[in-house]
Amino acid sequence: MAADTGPVLSARQVSVRFGGLHALEDVDLEVGAGRVTGLIGPNGAGKTTLFNVLSGLIRPVAGTVHLGGEDVTGWPPHRRGRGGVGRSFQRLELFARLRVEENLVAAWESAHPGAIFGRGRTERRRRVAEVVDLLGLGPIARRTAGELPTGLGRMVELGRALCTDPKVLLLDEPSSGLDHGETNQFAAVLRRLVAETGPAGRQLAVLLVEHDMALVMEVCSAITVLDFGRRIACGTPAEIRGDAGVRAAYLGESDVA
Ligand SMILES: Nc1ncnc2c1ncn2[C@@H]1O[C@H](COP(=O)(O)OP(=O)(O)O)[C@@H](O)[C@H]1O
Ligand SMILES: [Mg+2]
Repeated sequence: MAADTGPVLSARQVSVRFGGLHALEDVDLEVGAGRVTGLIGPNGAGKTTLFNVLSGLIRPVAGTVHLGGEDVTGWPPHRRGRGGVGRSFQRLELFARLRVEENLVAAWESAHPGAIFGRGRTERRRRVAEVVDLLGLGPIARRTAGELPTGLGRMVELGRALCTDPKVLLLDEPSSGLDHGETNQFAAVLRRLVAETGPAGRQLAVLLVEHDMALVMEVCSAITVLDFGRRIACGTPAEIRGDAGVRAAYLGESDVA
């Protein structure tokens, strides 16, 4: 197959209605490999709705979603997952009574059914070790997931998602519940993740849906801004910071950049 240089995941002219509410209106978004793409906007702007459209949980009334050039608009979430759309598991979905490394193994196995014998075992061990290394989980690998503080639990969630070998990773408000230091650490890990070349020789694409403007400005190389279900801006952090419409949308919010 020829190298695909387009976006890994994209939404084109996507609209979503909840009854009379236009939650999204003709929204475009592109998520490219080797970078963190930010999706920001005030509360209720439609960020989580767009996230759910990309992962397949919500079917738009208009518009399309493309994965690696293929139209996946009609695909259910599990099929998109197999196609390379990864998302972080919420905290409650960690197996609380299993050790951290057992959680990673379980995630790997969920994405590689039938591959737990022979060569699969070796690959599993290699990938889990790689993810432990990448996220610095070594010191807590044998601890029980349920007893970890939020910051470390978030890293394990991320690790589980990485064990499924995603092409694109969708993260919805990963900084919620993290303190300042933990948020900075998370940001550093995200930057490292997209800079690395993954197991299949490709670079990961990350979509970061975030309320925390400072975090987004720090890790993203491209940012899309939603307000009342519409895309009001799209550009580099510098362009977004200088955008009058973005500033107006955030007026009255405490975290205006
Ligand atoms: N399942 C739903 N049913 C009805 N309205 C919803 C539903 N989900 C979200 N909304 C509404 O859609 C708008 C966008 O919500 P959401 O995507 O959660 O925003 P954000 O994540 O940016 O805070 C809000 O007005 C919200 O109240
Ligand atoms: Mg949300």
